[in-house]
Amino acid sequence: MSNLLQLKNISAGYEGKTVLREVNLNVNPNDFVGIIGPNGGGKTTLLKVLLELIEPYQGSVVKKDGLRIGYLPQINTIDKKFPISVKEVILSGRHANNWKLGSNKKNAQKIDELLQFVGMNQYKDTAIGDLSGGQMQRIFLCRALISNPHLLILDEPNTYVDKTFEENLYNLLSELNKDMAILLVSHDVGTISSMVKTIACVNGGLHYHESNKITNEVLKSYNCPIEIISHGTVPHRVLKTHKHE
Ligand SMILES: Nc1ncnc2c1ncn2[C@@H]1O[C@H](COP(=O)(O)OP(=O)(O)OP(=O)(O)O)[C@@H](O)[C@H]1O
Ligand SMILES: [Mg+2]
Repeated sequence: MSNLLQLKNISAGYEGKTVLREVNLNVNPNDFVGIIGPNGGGKTTLLKVLLELIEPYQGSVVKKDGLRIGYLPQINTIDKKFPISVKEVILSGRHANNWKLGSNKKNAQKIDELLQFVGMNQYKDTAIGDLSGGQMQRIFLCRALISNPHLLILDEPNTYVDKTFEENLYNLLSELNKDMAILLVSHDVGTISSMVKTIACVNGGLHYHESNKITNEVLKSYNCPIEIISHGTVPHRVLKTHKHE
């Protein structure tokens, strides 16, 4: 199979309530997919299905053999009280992929490199509960990257980080995309459309667009009355979210 991963006719949800209906998605090497959609539309649920953290009601998830996935969870889903240090959090990204643990020395080196990159060397032994939201997001980025994934999945990685780091992050993602596929959930549609190659709109169903242009037509096509401000032709900001029945 040339795909890294395929979702085939997935329906999924919680306690019998359906959140995602008949979703299909193919992820190929070097894809960079922006995932957008309203709050509660099922973006995080889609990622959890793909990571096999929840079992779909119907359909299947097909992965390439040996696929390693790096995952940065949406920060509000992380238990800050969990008594674990920054270093241990990063290392746990290796266990998550059954990625063979290197020698202690190699692991320590890689952790240092990643911490250096996100500007947090001095926090190596800090408990994660003592970090700010933005610092925690940086650490979870290190965790997502430690096993050299083929597929990097980021659920709103820019919620808490400051503008300077956000720019670093986006530069890094463009660099990483040369070697790995990336799925990026974000509400920042302006930034998304300038970085990603294709767009998936998730709102119960999934609509895939083979372009990175978020036009009013794209938004209308999944029936979301999201208003956007445009600067020229680039949509800038989501103003309004809404409930779907
Ligand atoms: N563990 C859970 N148990 C029950 N319902 C859940 C659970 N997680 C999510 N849901 C529900 O599933 C729906 C989709 O949630 P999901 O987190 O996938 O949305 P989202 O698109 O990621 O939203 P956001 O933009 O706010 O992150 C919501 O109605 C939510 O209340
Ligand atoms: Mg979410």
